[in-house]
Amino acid sequence: MSNILVTGGTGYIGSHTVVELLHAGHSVVIVDNYANSKPEVLKRIKKLTGREVKCYAIDLQDRIALNRVFEQEEKIETVIHFAALKSVGESVEEPLKYYHNNIMSSLVLLECMASHGVDKIVFSSTAAVYGLENESPLAEGLPLLAANPYGRTKWMIEQMIIDLVAASPNWSAVLLRYFNAVGAHESGWMGEDPTGVPSNLMPYISQVAAGKLSQLKIYGNNYETPDGSGVRDYIHVTDLGKGHLSALNYLSAHKGVEIFNLGTGRGYSVLEVIHTFETVNKVSVPYVFEERRAGDVAVNYADSSKAERILAWRAERSLEKICEDAWRWQIQNPKGYE
Ligand code: WQD
Repeated sequence: MSNILVTGGTGYIGSHTVVELLHAGHSVVIVDNYANSKPEVLKRIKKLTGREVKCYAIDLQDRIALNRVFEQEEKIETVIHFAALKSVGESVEEPLKYYHNNIMSSLVLLECMASHGVDKIVFSSTAAVYGLENESPLAEGLPLLAANPYGRTKWMIEQMIIDLVAASPNWSAVLLRYFNAVGAHESGWMGEDPTGVPSNLMPYISQVAAGKLSQLKIYGNNYETPDGSGVRDYIHVTDLGKGHLSALNYLSAHKGVEIFNLGTGRGYSVLEVIHTFETVNKVSVPYVFEERRAGDVAVNYADSSKAERILAWRAERSLEKICEDAWRWQIQNPKGYE
């Protein structure tokens, strides 16, 4: 099995992917600066897999430290690149912080890979590259219209990789565009641990149900949707993790770049998510309607047929399962990984 370097491997999606990689027999090394995660995650990975995963606590922009990782580690064959700042709202307030961190980290990583002959990469991209004008279901070939600095950094990094692979026929790259990653490992030992008040829907609902927050603000009830609230493609984080296993298999057999949406292909409204969460977990989630949130679209969900066809991967976990797993994580870890 290949030796995989996972950047951002103690983060939400990264850690759930590392667990799936280890279960599949891969050997994994993590690089993470803990900007948006905690070392405790490594203990949870060990608890779930019995495997001690080495994590280099360095910043990807530290070229000397990163080169040392490539030199010290046994042959790293593939990189899965999750590490990035990912808050849409923060990226609007501090665009240079996002351009500097996300672009420079990726540039140094790609240069280190090239200088060490590592030419396989899976890149963590986002549905945010589709922007606000494209109509759902969103397919990979649509024009990219990223509508905020965060989405634009991911779009630029996609282009960097596409240009690199065009100039280096030996390279293999898979760009994965995630839709809304939600839920938690079904054991309750790993999950989403946002810093401060959550901006995303599912962790906010979980904290309201747990009484940590008083009520949910639903941003907009007059969208052109069946019940007026926003519709999104919510995909279980474990399904996302398994999508990376399929991407690794594809990488080992193909040169060049391929882009895949990782979504369920089904949209749910905010009100449907709330009602499902309440029913499945027998809890109450009080809410109030507020004005629309700047930058939100009414409807955003994937055409995931390409990944189903070419990667032989599809999301399997239902919204009910997502809500059940998210709630178990919340009640077993009221303070996240603290
Ligand atoms: C979902 C729905 C909100 C919070 C973001 C990023 C995207 C990706 C996933 C990284 C929307 C509504 C939310 C709340 C609400 N991240 N909502 N009250 O905005 O679809 O996507 O996360 O790749 O890049 O943009 O996710 O969870 O914030 O919102 O009513 O307190 O829930 O309006 O309809 P979003 P979200």
